[in-house]
Amino acid sequence: MPDKPGRNAIEVVDVSKIFGSGEGQVAALDTVSVSIRENEFFTLLGPSGCGKTTLLRLIAGFDFPTAGEILLYGQDIAPLPPFKRPVNTVFQSYALFPHMTVADNIGFGLEMLGKPKAQIKVRVAEMLKLVKMEALAGRRTSQISGGQQQRVALARALAPQPKVLLLDEPLSALDYKLRKEMQIELKRLQHETGITFIFVTHDQEEALTMSDRIAVMSSGKILQVGSPWDIYDKPAERFVADFIGETNFLTAAIAGVSDGKAQATLKSGATINATVAEGFQPKDKATIVVRPEHAKLTAAKGDLSGTVENIVYFGTDTHIQVRLDSGEAFTVRQQNTRSAGCGFEQGEKVGIAIGNDAAQVLRD
Ligand SMILES: Nc1ncnc2c1ncn2[C@@H]1O[C@H](COP(=O)(O)OP(=O)(O)O)[C@@H](O)[C@H]1O
Ligand SMILES: [Mg+2]
Repeated sequence: MPDKPGRNAIEVVDVSKIFGSGEGQVAALDTVSVSIRENEFFTLLGPSGCGKTTLLRLIAGFDFPTAGEILLYGQDIAPLPPFKRPVNTVFQSYALFPHMTVADNIGFGLEMLGKPKAQIKVRVAEMLKLVKMEALAGRRTSQISGGQQQRVALARALAPQPKVLLLDEPLSALDYKLRKEMQIELKRLQHETGITFIFVTHDQEEALTMSDRIAVMSSGKILQVGSPWDIYDKPAERFVADFIGETNFLTAAIAGVSDGKAQATLKSGATINATVAEGFQPKDKATIVVRPEHAKLTAAKGDLSGTVENIVYFGTDTHIQVRLDSGEAFTVRQQNTRSAGCGFEQGEKVGIAIGNDAAQVLRD
């Protein structure tokens, strides 16, 4: 998917957020900079505690940065209180009013803004249609399902036509099937409204399937920003490679780095062509990563050789775990076909072909 060009809706510039003081001090965000483009589905992805919610709260204005600034279309928004920012948030907990109807919940933000009654009525009707909840407009939100509550929360947040919608793990309370449905629904809403979405998740698959671009976070820092394709195929650091999907790490001697490519000599003695992560500082030894589906098992000796330790069947594919002669572990993923078996057996000696461009040299 090509990046969407366009102006920046949000620019986060060298933002830090420190909680507490002295020994108990926590750097929830450590000099974070990132630009989010207009009309983009942008995802903050990272494990619990890495600072995702803190960054959203700073953008929303519920809290202030310790250092740095946040620009909205080029303007510093520090002086604006939350209700004056053209930004709205959908929380994980939905935070609906249970005793109020669906329609009244959706109109609530507009009432608070003092919009005329007639205008609110029209807008609420539009929003009910957008999230396909017309039939339940008069129900109390305590009497609708979790998925329906999610739709109401979205409609309420979209009703005032914010420029940016912040979504803090909005799908994590839903069961698997509903979650898949709401992922598609969210993509549709973003597409139809053209509003910039900043979506938070700790689920890598959700991030890969939904986003125009992803920022991978760890311990208060953004490690890498890129399209799902970039993040998966060209991870810059070990954390990114490990957090997103399964991968193989190998140690290699690096020579002849130029034009984003390097010659990587593996412990097996084979030399392969590998792409080099952005920001890679030339060094003799580095870690390279190869995704399990980008390597091929062969009966003959390949770039690597070893012994099959384990074969794990996953329905759509089979994972063949190999102990390399170097002692390193390596998994190859093979797509399954109707014909039985993966063609290899436990204990069998095998080769592994990596091929050009399948390996990536990490910068750390
Ligand atoms: N109000 C607060 N006071 C103290 N520490 C906080 C506060 N809010 C968040 N933190 C800490 O900041 C870090 C980042 O938290 P958070 O942004 O909620 O992470 P995430 O949303 O990625 O799970 C965590 O270590 C968390 O404990
Ligand atoms: Mg959070």
